[in-house]
Amino acid sequence: MIHSLFPTPIIEINTPENLKDTFSNMFKDALDDHFQDTTNSTISKQTLSNLHHDKRLYKFFVWLDMKIREGIKELGYSVDVIEFRDCWANKMLKNEYVNSHNHSNSWLSGVYYPFEIEDISSGITFFDPRPANTTMIFPGAGSKGDFTAQDKTFEPKQGTIYVFPSWLWHSVRPVIKDERISVSFNIVPGGGL
Ligand SMILES: [Fe+2]
Repeated sequence: MIHSLFPTPIIEINTPENLKDTFSNMFKDALDDHFQDTTNSTISKQTLSNLHHDKRLYKFFVWLDMKIREGIKELGYSVDVIEFRDCWANKMLKNEYVNSHNHSNSWLSGVYYPFEIEDISSGITFFDPRPANTTMIFPGAGSKGDFTAQDKTFEPKQGTIYVFPSWLWHSVRPVIKDERISVSFNIVPGGGL
């Protein structure tokens, strides 16, 4: 028997077919009003962190709120209310990327891919969060077993959402084709801490 101790949860939510285009169109309509040039050398355009206040996206956030609370319950929390603290979109052009980072002042973070994905490099890579594990001997670079991987890349499809602990380090590989748009968010338990 092998026990799995201290696992890191990644909640994957897939937008159902009947809502995928509806949500995609909502973002298509709204995002152009929000994107602005960044001073960040690895991302061309970003929105402010207030997308969750855009009334045109209301239906999406109501649905997302419900799906995240379902996932949180499965993890064993009894949190009935969550609060979107930040939500912003990134538009990255060819060769742009996001370095490894985590999200401060938050509980859970997530990323949503509203549009069709043609770029095979769109995956998000998560890194082993256990500092003590750097002393471990691994079978070899590239090992992808649950107990032997030092990082893991998830390949999203249109409508995929990943929700993960905000402290978890993650990065995004350089864009190979044209452009890539993703929507990120931070949430905290409702009612404050
Ligand atoms: Fe991030």
